[in-house]
Amino acid sequence: MSGRLVIAIDGPSAAGKGTLARRLAAHFCLPHLDTGLLYRAVGVKADRLGLPPEEVAAGLQLADLLAPDLRTDVAGQLASKVAVLPQVRDNLLNFQKKFASQKSGAVLDGRDVGTVICPDAPVKFFVTASAEARADRRYQELRGRGVDTIRPRVLAEMAERDRRDSERAAAPLMAAPDAFLLDTSDMDADAAFAAALAFIARKGFRSSGP
Ligand code: DC
Repeated sequence: MSGRLVIAIDGPSAAGKGTLARRLAAHFCLPHLDTGLLYRAVGVKADRLGLPPEEVAAGLQLADLLAPDLRTDVAGQLASKVAVLPQVRDNLLNFQKKFASQKSGAVLDGRDVGTVICPDAPVKFFVTASAEARADRRYQELRGRGVDTIRPRVLAEMAERDRRDSERAAAPLMAAPDAFLLDTSDMDADAAFAAALAFIARKGFRSSGP
């Protein structure tokens, strides 16, 4: 290995960055932070308690991250709305930076990891896919979980969230200039993982495992 391995993974919703992040974290034995979960927890708690999101972000507790309804699309929309607020982002910044600075190295995925949270990460990915491919995946996932929805609604809600995440002034979704672009439109999770491993190896990092 050459130095501390920090892997920053950004991209729009349902592009496959969460799956890739979990697999890379397991492969390299690194702690993983899904930064979207922080915004989901803030959005859901602020909405439930009628509190200012900035205040919720400032006092976010570990227990808030374990709330049962954080993975829903409603939570995703709430997260995207509170994520435009600069003070919310500021209040979550230190925790994320601290996580990334652990001695062990780390994997973080989100929207601004490579640009704002860890601009010096030695390995950055921008994981994307066509809107059609992402909507298909999300639709299948929701149907698999027994959620009653229709594909056009999934596509419209995803487009709305992507637009808000990309057009906001504070830390918008964008690829870091030194990120490796991984378009997963025609790739399954195994192919994306293999491509990511090959890039990481080119950067001089190898798994210490078998
Ligand atoms: O990755 P996710 O779908 O769980 O993220 C939910 C929302 O949180 C996303 O639409 C925008 C916001 N988010 C953000 O602004 N910055 C991050 N680093 C992660 C998520």
